[in-house]
Amino acid sequence: MSLSQERPAQGLVVAIDGPSGSGKSTIGRHLASSFGLAYLDTGAMYRAVAWYARERGLALADTSPAVVASVDQAAAELARALPLVEPLDPEEQVFVVDGTDVTAAIRTSEISTVVSRIATNLAVRAALRERQRAIIAHETTPQGWSGGRGIVAEGRDITTVVAPDATVRILLVAGEEARLARRAAELFGAADEAAIEATRDQVVRRDADDATVSEFHVAADGVVTLDSSTLTLPETLEAAIRIVEQGRA
Ligand code: DC
Repeated sequence: MSLSQERPAQGLVVAIDGPSGSGKSTIGRHLASSFGLAYLDTGAMYRAVAWYARERGLALADTSPAVVASVDQAAAELARALPLVEPLDPEEQVFVVDGTDVTAAIRTSEISTVVSRIATNLAVRAALRERQRAIIAHETTPQGWSGGRGIVAEGRDITTVVAPDATVRILLVAGEEARLARRAAELFGAADEAAIEATRDQVVRRDADDATVSEFHVAADGVVTLDSSTLTLPETLEAAIRIVEQGRA
């Protein structure tokens, strides 16, 4: 018997936030598989908008005052019209924008470097927030991918803004050193000093930029903090499963 059959979870919404490298995507996907839920990676949606904006020739790296407002406005329009097919199967996260498979392209360092420009655009955030809420609501109905079992949604503002009334809300944190080492291993296959330095911009600078629009370092009222700094992946998953089981009881 699979875990999903052992743990039927009617209309469960699990919201997970946390900084880069805290492990929330891995934990979110595993949690969704364990409970038979859909999985929504909202960071990938911001990355998809960044990819689409670059594809359309928007000068995302140009911060000169003469162009900032028009680029931001164009980015918001693209976010509202984004032709993204949202993958909800935690075991098969394939992102298709406008007929192009962008699964690998949205993880490149070119996109990681400019995505905060998209994520700090409040009109983009408003557009994606509405999409995310619609997907979450749909997953609690029988017509959803999960057949109404529910969804795990992860990002930076899910516990606070997108789904503050989620059944279970988790803030997954880890110390900066642990997060840098994990991302360096992911990106470069090693966590030596050079790899950690090369990763620093993508973790520390990006989180600092992103923190100007979302609070994801301190848990809001009712949000359970899980610190994975000294835990292995299986230990973190086990702790997250316990939090979900307690929260939905
Ligand atoms: O988790 P990630 O690295 O894939 O996120 C990509 C970017 O989107 C990152 O700059 C943070 C931002 N983001 C956000 O602002 N709000 C979310 N709900 C999810 C991601």
